[in-house]
Amino acid sequence: MKRCLPTSRLLTRFSTGVTGYIGGDAFYELESRHPDWDYSVLVRGRERGAQVAEKYPNARLVYGTNEDSDIIEAESAKADIVIRTFVCSDGSCRLQH
Ligand SMILES: NC(=O)c1ccc[n+]([C@@H]2O[C@H](COP(=O)([O-])OP(=O)(O)OC[C@H]3O[C@@H](n4cnc5c(N)ncnc54)[C@H](OP(=O)(O)O)[C@@H]3O)[C@@H](O)[C@H]2O)c1
Repeated sequence: MKRCLPTSRLLTRFSTGVTGYIGGDAFYELESRHPDWDYSVLVRGRERGAQVAEKYPNARLVYGTNEDSDIIEAESAKADIVIRTFVCSDGSCRLQH
């Protein structure tokens, strides 16, 4: 029997590091190919949020940092795809694993 995937459901994607080199490129590529998906983006402050909002007005901004494991956990749980590309050199990412 042939099984079909639902086509009406939009995928949700949660990203970190979008204002950086790797995350910025990855987000651009994915958003260009799938503009119909829902996107949530973790940003560290209003200035970064404004930069992301200007480029991607449909993305939902989530304010926080690597240290906010409760926010990252909650947003990740809502997402179908999670992409984390932030810099980890301060060791803060250890808190989340
Ligand atoms: N670039 C490369 O060629 C390369 C190659 C191999 C591996 N990598 C790895 O890929 C990752 C990303 O590299 P990148 O070159 O894209 O770095 P990047 O351009 O410096 O970008 C870093 C990103 O991480 C965010 N960030 C930094 N500290 C954060 C914190 N405490 N909480 C939340 N977000 C934080 C920055 O946000 P703000 O805008 O707020 O600063 C920015 O979006 C790194 O782990 C790096 O080691 C990079």
